Amino acid sequence: MAPRKIIIDTDPGQDDAVAILLALASPEDVDLLGITAVAGNVPLPLTQKNARIVCELAGYTDTKVFAGCDAPLARKLVTAEHVHGKTGLDGPQMDDPTMPLQDEHGVDFIIETLRREPAGTVTICPIGPLTNIATAFQRAPDIIARVQEIVLMGGAYFEVGNITPSAEFNIYVDPEAAKLVFGAGVPLTMMPLDVTHKALTTRPRIDAFRSMGTKVGDMVAAWTDFFERFDMEKYGSEGAPLHDPCTIAYLINPDLFQGRHINVEVETGSDLTLGMTVADWWRVTDRPANAVFMKDINAEGFYALLAERLARL
Ligand code: RIB
Ligand code: CA
Repeated sequence: MAPRKIIIDTDPGQDDAVAILLALASPEDVDLLGITAVAGNVPLPLTQKNARIVCELAGYTDTKVFAGCDAPLARKLVTAEHVHGKTGLDGPQMDDPTMPLQDEHGVDFIIETLRREPAGTVTICPIGPLTNIATAFQRAPDIIARVQEIVLMGGAYFEVGNITPSAEFNIYVDPEAAKLVFGAGVPLTMMPLDVTHKALTTRPRIDAFRSMGTKVGDMVAAWTDFFERFDMEKYGSEGAPLHDPCTIAYLINPDLFQGRHINVEVETGSDLTLGMTVADWWRVTDRPANAVFMKDINAEGFYALLAERLARL
């Protein structure tokens, strides 16, 4: 089967970095058309720089990286330095990138790519706030029907929120953008905290990265060592959830995941529950199903895939 043509929309972030590396390491499954950076974990100047750092680390300096939106549609930017560190890629010492940032705005790249490629052949993988995607849909509604699938990391229901008691970070940062994307009618597969919190790092899993004896393996181990401290302290868990790589792993092997096609709505009106993804898991309403809500993962298989693919870089 031909590799899936994808655009990764991202706010690196250590877990974003692992998702990008997994995509670059899997050319037989994924044809990465470009990476669009968005403001999220850290401000846009850092997310666009971090995306290039990751591509250079993997030796893919010809990857096209674009800067997208630097603020949510209608709110002040909320960032997550408390999780990812000041640079967004804290942990190891990283050199500044030398590969170029593309001149084109990330939103324009999304629009022109969707218009150029045959309809139904491009998948968008948002792993940060949904500002770029929503802005592209607002500016060019004609591209909505041309998207093959959106496979995103975001949301939470049974697992509740991680940035507020009711909201997951990516949705919370730009709830208006999320509402627009979830209501656009594009086939949507979501990786909420309900599934990513079952993909925890453990010492043996991180050691598997470190024992690769490669620069990528060392960097991923150092990033996850740094990244996991926050979740371990907060949840008392054995490790941290590798959220964003779940999207790419799904494209490579969807059988690693189980979920349900249900209705998911985004709260934008209440300060108390702003950004909550209200998932009708038990189908108690007649609201139409608009998302596959993934709830379970074969975590051993996920980490085995990560180790096998990242060792290629
Ligand atoms: O809530 C987890 C999400 O927020 C992940 O995408 C992480 O990178 C941060 O962006
Ligand atoms: Ca992210």
